[in-house]
Amino acid sequence: MSGIKLTSGENGGIASGGVTVREMTRLERIGAHSHIRGLGLDDSLDPRKCGSQGMVGQAKARRAVGVIYRMIAEGKIGGRAILLAGKPGTGKTAIAMGLAQQLGEDTPFTTMSGSEVFSLEMSKTEALTQALRRSIGIRILEETEVMEGEVVEIQIDTAFGGENKAGRAKGGMEKTGRLTLCTTDMETVYDLGTKMIEALSKEKITAGDVITIDKASGKITKLGRSFSRSRDYDAMGSTTRFVQCPEGELQKRKEVVHNVSLHEIDVINSRQQGFLALFAGDTGEIKSEVREQIDAKVVEWREEGRAKIVPGVLFIDEVHMLDMECFSFLNRALESDMAPVLVIATNRGISKIRGTEYKSPHGIPLDLLDRLMIVSTEPYSHDEVRKILSVRCEEEDVEMADDAMELLARIGIETSLRYAIHMIIASSLAATKRKSATVEIDDVKRVYRLFVDVKRSTQYLMEYNKEFMFNELDDRTTEYGVDNNNHHDGDEPVEGGVSGDMLMASSP
Ligand SMILES: Nc1ncnc2c1ncn2[C@@H]1O[C@H](COP(=O)(O)OP(=O)(O)OP(=O)(O)O)[C@@H](O)[C@H]1O
Ligand SMILES: [Mg+2]
Repeated sequence: MSGIKLTSGENGGIASGGVTVREMTRLERIGAHSHIRGLGLDDSLDPRKCGSQGMVGQAKARRAVGVIYRMIAEGKIGGRAILLAGKPGTGKTAIAMGLAQQLGEDTPFTTMSGSEVFSLEMSKTEALTQALRRSIGIRILEETEVMEGEVVEIQIDTAFGGENKAGRAKGGMEKTGRLTLCTTDMETVYDLGTKMIEALSKEKITAGDVITIDKASGKITKLGRSFSRSRDYDAMGSTTRFVQCPEGELQKRKEVVHNVSLHEIDVINSRQQGFLALFAGDTGEIKSEVREQIDAKVVEWREEGRAKIVPGVLFIDEVHMLDMECFSFLNRALESDMAPVLVIATNRGISKIRGTEYKSPHGIPLDLLDRLMIVSTEPYSHDEVRKILSVRCEEEDVEMADDAMELLARIGIETSLRYAIHMIIASSLAATKRKSATVEIDDVKRVYRLFVDVKRSTQYLMEYNKEFMFNELDDRTTEYGVDNNNHHDGDEPVEGGVSGDMLMASSP
């Protein structure tokens, strides 16, 4: 496309590369947020029943993020910034992941942690620029002429040393063939050259497949098998996709959509082997001239109606790790007209801005705070903790007795939600050890004794302080929630004290 490379390799490059990645089977691993499948909102942005799409409680914050979702989905507004603020473990990252899931695959969503910008390979502002440009998608429309139909027959003739016009024998084999394609309305026979025969056998095309052939490049794509052939074979791989035999003319104009991000276009155009750098992640710094050129081209394509800008989301978690330079860079970046929506999250209270002696709410300078829409997350109630734990049990495939769940929920309230979540798989292992499929209350008690939470660990430290190395007992310990009457350094104390007799109290 006029000077600027969009794709790499021979056929389709990035766009087709993206598709291949999507077709790969997903690795099934359970992560901290793998139970989150969306924001769990209905059409009027009200939270659906508890646990919908893995989301529990936090109704106000979810509603607010739902509004942001609408804003992004309509694609009109960029350059807005949302701050998710709240205590540790109140679901800030979970809500951001829910937003990503809700937006789907076609809207770019970039996730990074504040500390990622501090790398030796590139400057902080370059890292942020790359992240911002990763979050802006370009949807490029291309019209191509294709032939689309169901394969009726492939006939291949192999002739030995066919004669050419001069009557001299040619050495070797020569393949010729015919391909019969049909739609529900017509059928045509095409002559095949050697190259097409090779392409057909490479794609393992057989009679009954529905295919498209790009007229310009000759690229063959298998769409699936025709429904009419579904009964031909008993054994069919689970990946076989059945499609209808196409209707109408064999030759069609088809709109092909390529989804790429601005950053991908940057990388491909900034290096000789640009697209390889995309896979290696070693993109280095990109010259501003390259970016300017690309921006100008994108504007041109947009005016011609060939491309659409899809503003996505840049999510910066633990944003208090950014310093003054980064914050002022973001201030400015948000005002450019190709800015994505910025979502940031922090669990800090009034604390020092990194690299300065100034204190500010959330550790974010006031001028940036002023540009933010702030959504706060609230601590969970007992019932909500219980529901989150049961959602996690389902995700981790753990069966838990009611009273065990109740105890775990209480542990979650007394210690932290994360600690309780981690106890699920541990207590399930304890249950397996005594050959039981269900986690009982004793299993939970057992792992509660095996793994101490932060508060118990700190209490232990205070008791045996003298016996540890480099002990310096001062009021900093309040940070870890042992003494929860004192606020330290503006950071919010962890709520709830240690209740030593919790285990006793919970015994029936
Ligand atoms: N409303 C919720 N529904 C379902 N799961 C949740 C919800 N809130 C939190 N969780 C789960 O609880 C765990 C902790 O939440 P999360 O990591 O989102 O906390 P956070 O607010 O980002 O904390 P931090 O400030 O420490 O980063 C995660 O596994 C998360 O998926
Ligand atoms: Mg988090």
